[in-house]
This record gives sequence, C-alpha cells and structure tokens, in this order.
Amino acid sequence: MTVTGSVLIRNVRPYGEGEPLDVAVTDGVIAAVGAVPDTHVADDEIDGRGGVLLPGLVDLHTHLREPGREDTETVESGSRAAARGGFTAVFAMANTAPVADNATITDHVWRLGREVGLVDVHPVGAVTVGLAGEQLAEMGMMADGAAGVRLFSDDGKCVHDPVIMKRALEYATGLGVLISQHSEDPRLTQGAVAHDGPTAARLGLAGWPRAAEESIVARDALLARDAGARIHVAHASTAGTVELIRWARGQGIDITAEVTPHHLLLDDSRLATYDGVNRVNPPLREESDTRALRAALAEGVVDCVATDHAPHAAQEKCCEFSQARPGMLGLETALSVVAETMVTAGLLDWRGVARVMSERPAQIVGLDDQGRPLTAGEPANLTIVDPDATWTVRDDALASRSQNTPYREMTLPALVTATVLRGRVTARRAANGGAWQ
Ligand code: DOR
Repeated sequence: MTVTGSVLIRNVRPYGEGEPLDVAVTDGVIAAVGAVPDTHVADDEIDGRGGVLLPGLVDLHTHLREPGREDTETVESGSRAAARGGFTAVFAMANTAPVADNATITDHVWRLGREVGLVDVHPVGAVTVGLAGEQLAEMGMMADGAAGVRLFSDDGKCVHDPVIMKRALEYATGLGVLISQHSEDPRLTQGAVAHDGPTAARLGLAGWPRAAEESIVARDALLARDAGARIHVAHASTAGTVELIRWARGQGIDITAEVTPHHLLLDDSRLATYDGVNRVNPPLREESDTRALRAALAEGVVDCVATDHAPHAAQEKCCEFSQARPGMLGLETALSVVAETMVTAGLLDWRGVARVMSERPAQIVGLDDQGRPLTAGEPANLTIVDPDATWTVRDDALASRSQNTPYREMTLPALVTATVLRGRVTARRAANGGAWQ
C-alpha cells in the first residue's frame, strides 16, 4: 500500500465517457479533474491507460469471517480481496463466531478494519441475539458504539418470527438504521439444498421453493408499511421477488433490494456436476430468474449489486453436495461479472455500473463519503477499470484465504487496475493486466 499526500491519475475516462483526462488528488480529496500540466508534481502517479474511472465500489454484503473462522478469511485478507475487486467500503456480516450481536464485537471488527486500512470495513450488527431469532440484540448500543453500526442483519438466517421482525423494524426506525433481511421461510426450506425446480427433481436434491423467499419479502414489505420503516432485501433471487418489490414501491413502501453477481450470471443448470462450489443460499435459480434480475437491476427496481462474498474452507465445499456449506466468493470477481451480465449485454453503461455498485449502495446506508461524484472537492475513493481486458479466474491467485469461486477457469471481461481509498493506493496492477504490486 502506498501512502501519499498527493496522487496524480493520468489518462482516465470518468464513467467511461468522453476523452481521457487527468485527476489530481491531494490530502485524500479530488483537487482537480481535467488536463493537469506535465509540470504537476505528485508523490505518486497512476497511469490509467485510458481506462474507466469509477467512484470506489461499495459492498453492502460481505462475510469476512473474523472473529471465529480466520482459517477461511480475515479482515485483512478480505480487505485485500475487496481492494483488488475495486471496493473502497464493505459491510461485514454479523454471522461470525461469536456473533456480532453486541458493541464489543462490532467495535472490534471496525477497529481491525481501520488497522488494515485497505477498505472501510463497516460491521453489520445482528438483529437478534446469537442470530437465534428470539430476542432483539442491543441495536442501540451497536449504533452508538465506535463503529456507528447503521446496517443490521441476521444474514445466513431469516428473522422469521413476524412479531420479532415487527419490533425490529420499529426499533430500527427509532434509531435511524436499516435492516437487511435474509428472506427465507425456514419451514419451507427445511433440508433444502437447491432451487425447487426440474433440475433439483432430476438430480434428487431437496428443493427450496421461490415462495420461501417471496412470502417473506411480501410479509416484510407489509410490516415495514405499518411501522413506517425502511427495509432492505438481501440477495434477491427470483422473478417474483422483483415483482413484489415493484408492487411495494408502488404502494409507497420504503423498500430497497440487492442482487448478487452470481444470481445475475449463474443458474441451476450448473448443479448437474454435484460440485459443492455451486451451493449457495438462496440457491441458483432458473435462467428466467437471472433474466428478470438483470432487467430489474437495469431498470432500478433492484437497486444495487452486493457480493455476498462467503468464503468457506476446502473441506466444507469439496464434499457431498448436500453437506457442502452454502456460499461463494465474490469480491474479486464482482465487477467483471457485472460487466459480463450488464455492460456486455447492453443493459448498463459504465455510469450505470457506478450507480448500482457505488452510488446506490452508499445512499442506501447513508454513507456520505462514498459513491460520490467524480468532481473536485469530493473524497478520492476511486476505482480504475480496463474495460477491454479479459482475464481467466484462477482460484489460487485470489487474495481471499478461501478458494470457493464458482468462476474458476472462466474468462471474464473488465479488469480492475487500481483502487484508491481517500487518496491512498490500496491495490494496483502492473501494466497490461499484470500482477498486483
Ligand atoms: O450462501 C450463503 N452463505 N448465504 C448466506 O446467506 C450466508 C452465507 C455464509 O455465511 O456462508
């Protein structure tokens, strides 16, 4: 990591638009955008090589596994993966061991993130004690702590009891914080390991019906309506969820939603090999769902992309499909998967990518220093992308401590070449898509 007082970024195209120009950064802030004279002296210089300049990416849904499963990821390894993926802020989910259901843990994770300094790590607080779904966690204490927790979730588990969820929404409204719900009716998904459709039936895998997700999305929308609360839908995975969000917005309900890169690109036809790397919650759905999710993201019905980066050890994935832990790596491949599914497909331009991967997520959680315009006076949280490069994913070349990427050996478009956090270069590749420096 290069710590500098000033950085000069040469030859980049903000949002991939217009002619290449230069960006001068001083003391963590964008000082000038335009043609910077050759005489300009900076502590560090990045050659953008005509690439796309974006506001640094923001991930509302990351599992960093610390404390508890440092064998699979740490705040440090996850932060490095995030920086290499173009992220300048990530929200670290609460399903650690112990669970982040109190301010001691959330402040600890926040401090670890600050020490590493590669990305802003915002801990997510649990909604219920131990993620058990029975008793509300001390949300106020976590919100008031050093970490200033603003996002709460029992992710990995659904807050399924409607009375608890109602109370949580009321409490969150009073605190001015947001609840992100993992929408899964646990009675409908008992033993389920795959999307409930023809593929699971053929393979003999227990099915997770779309209704398990959609019934909770609908219920929570109604609970949010009555509480005058905001609600965020984590990892939307079905066409029906899209229609429910559209309906709820039409009713004036304050609902937002994210989609993962894997639910945009992959479908359950991949399950035929019984490879545990494809097991994830919610499960990979059908092609019709991926199409609906892409269209919803382009239209803005689904607000943003969130990775659900979920590292798991080899022994937890390389086993019988039904025994494999659900979850996939995502931080280092997210931008490329969005490029493939949305940009190459003509559904979004790079300004649209900035919207769904930086601006909207920052707005949803009220970060005022991320997802900002690329103009003078704004914090220098930046990502540079080579839009014309392609690369082949190698699981052993990732910064993550785990290797459970479903994109192994896949060739994807668009390469993050540098990431800048408040004027500090947190990731940088050698020329021509070379190694990380
Ligand atoms: O696939 C998943 N893995 N979905 C979740 O909601 C949790 C996550 C994990 O923690 O591994």
